[in-house]
Amino acid sequence: MQITVSVNGDAYTQEVEPRLLLIHFLRDELRLTGSHWGCDTSNCGACVVWLDETPVKSCTVLAAMADGHRVRTVEGMGMPGRLDPLQEGFSRCHGLQCGFCTPGMMLTARWLLDHNPDPTPGEIREALSGQVCRCTGYENIVRSVRWAAQYEAAGRDGGPSGGGPGETGHGPTATGVTG
Ligand code: FES
Ligand code: FES
Repeated sequence: MQITVSVNGDAYTQEVEPRLLLIHFLRDELRLTGSHWGCDTSNCGACVVWLDETPVKSCTVLAAMADGHRVRTVEGMGMPGRLDPLQEGFSRCHGLQCGFCTPGMMLTARWLLDHNPDPTPGEIREALSGQVCRCTGYENIVRSVRWAAQYEAAGRDGGPSGGGPGETGHGPTATGVTG
């Protein structure tokens, strides 16, 4: 069957098998390998992408179900020299080690901050509760999301003091963010 999916703003029309999962469509057909396939049980969350405006585990979605819809992957977050504040936060607060879980974590966290700009650590943990990190430990992931929330709040209040994401030393400091 033929499907057309908008991924990170670009339209792709492809022939796919009806049984093809969205994660495999993204990774194997489009070569967008930022989304990871970590389990066969819908538990790990490494495959989270947005389908239209909602984070989904792309290993639970058929590519055919994305026909006519918009998909956002980690490749669509930020850009070189202008990172999404969450990317900056994960970097500054050491929110990753191997990075396998990180794309999914950031996409869920992006949805959270878009709907709740000042989440508590408990709310962050709840939002990310469907996703597993095997190596960092969750404390620094929560700190990373809090960093991004504080950075974006500073921007809403008249601009981050001193510069944008990626400029060392600007925005809230990692040490000032509590987990
Ligand atoms: S690959 Fe583990 S939940 Fe999708
Ligand atoms: S950073 Fe390695 S699994 Fe999360």
